[in-house]
Amino acid sequence: MPNFRHALLAAGCIALLGATSHKVHAAEWLQGTPDEKADKLAEIQPGLGTVMLEYSFRFGTMYYAAQGGNWKLADYQMKEMLEIQEVGETTRPARAKPLKDFEEKFLNPLEAAIKAANLKDFNAKFAAAQTGCNECHTDQKFGFIHYELPKVSPSPLSNKP
Ligand code: HEC
Repeated sequence: MPNFRHALLAAGCIALLGATSHKVHAAEWLQGTPDEKADKLAEIQPGLGTVMLEYSFRFGTMYYAAQGGNWKLADYQMKEMLEIQEVGETTRPARAKPLKDFEEKFLNPLEAAIKAANLKDFNAKFAAAQTGCNECHTDQKFGFIHYELPKVSPSPLSNKP
């Protein structure tokens, strides 16, 4: 019993130390009033450029997962795409509407093909979505950003089911 209690005490101390050192570390750069701190934190949230890097990585990974028959991985990439898209919608509200439109018009049908594990349908919907990506780039005055599907999966994950 004493051993157990010592262990508990030690664990508590470690947790406390951890918390303290974490606080000290954060304080080095996170200074000012609560409002100033919140502003500082807001400034470093990812914008659309950063979001798009992940978005396109997952889009390409999804394609090759589906070709390999790893439908669960394709489904997972879709879910993660939608999550990172939400970050973009939040930090760049002006682009939220076209992102939502893209989701409804292109990603939802693609998701249905994934759920049905229908490769023929998936390939058709994927091609349509890819066109949709670049249409939005053009609409948003980023016509020089032209997404092309990479020749191999951008991800180190296996496409085997
Ligand atoms: C809201 C419309 C919109 C949609 C839909 C969209 N994008 Fe983008 N994308 C942008 C904008 C705007 C930028 C420029 C980002 C910036 O710097 O603000 C961009 C940038 C990019 C970049 C360049 C990132 C970098 O900094 O190097 C890639 C890659 C990209 N998009 C891929 C895609 C892919 C793949 C899709 C479809 C699955 C897609 N995008 C759908 C608006 C969109």
